[in-house]
Amino acid sequence: MTAFELHKVGGRIGAEITGIDLSQPLDGQTVTALNDALVAHKALFFRGQHLDDQGQTRFAGYFGPLTTAHPTVPSLDGQPNVLAVDSEDGGRANQWHTDVTFVRTPPKASTLRSLVVPPYGGNTLIADAQAAYRDLPEQLREFADRLWAVHTNDYDYAQGKELDDAEAERRAVFTSRTYRTAHPVVRVHPESGERGLFIGGFAERILGLPTGASHDLLRTLQSYVTRPENVVRWRWSVGDVVLFDNRSTQHYAPDDYDDLPRRLHRVTVAGDVPVGVSGEPSYIVEGDDAAHYTG
Ligand SMILES: [Fe+2]
Repeated sequence: MTAFELHKVGGRIGAEITGIDLSQPLDGQTVTALNDALVAHKALFFRGQHLDDQGQTRFAGYFGPLTTAHPTVPSLDGQPNVLAVDSEDGGRANQWHTDVTFVRTPPKASTLRSLVVPPYGGNTLIADAQAAYRDLPEQLREFADRLWAVHTNDYDYAQGKELDDAEAERRAVFTSRTYRTAHPVVRVHPESGERGLFIGGFAERILGLPTGASHDLLRTLQSYVTRPENVVRWRWSVGDVVLFDNRSTQHYAPDDYDDLPRRLHRVTVAGDVPVGVSGEPSYIVEGDDAAHYTG
């Protein structure tokens, strides 16, 4: 067992792990301890690792079977599990979201590794959706426990602005298959049993509510997720690895680095079907089970 050290970054979310070299094989006990830390702290940061794609893929694989790169976006050439997140190719995720929640089995966890980092800006923000749930007034919490939301990749990506040709092309690839999945608004974490809000950028509407009320309610719930107390900010250096639990977090990449290049590689660990407070699992509304993505 590697005796790593854990240093909390924020009071609610985030821990930096030191004393571990991710380019070396990890034994089962170390992996269990890291997985426990992931569930407890939701986002783990490892500085100065300098892994290659193979090393990142191996590291992610310790936490479970991997997904392919994305349900609709092609992987990096010859690397079926690796998604390039590249500023010069439209990879600016400046919207709060949890990765790939539009499918029935969204990923358990995501790993990000930095290859090119701008001299300023380009941080990653990760929010604690379980703390957000605990922050809700009791009446709202009990109400949310019973709600379900439809998530889709066919959301209002442009948000009113006109897309240029490259953006329109990316949008066409992203939505080349439409997925719609109903997930509980409050998800019970499969490992800790803790409840958390499970909404984010792909959540289109609340089932059973008119559009206006649905948007207002999602916005209200979301405001608890993104409270500064619930957010940790990671300032990247080249070679860093970040691992976060998609079952209890949302994330956001501020687009505040002008036209400077920024490049990360993402490898994700496959997840299970979310379950709500009632014990009922998520179900498909439109599209297939994304078996090509999640195995
Ligand atoms: Fe993301």
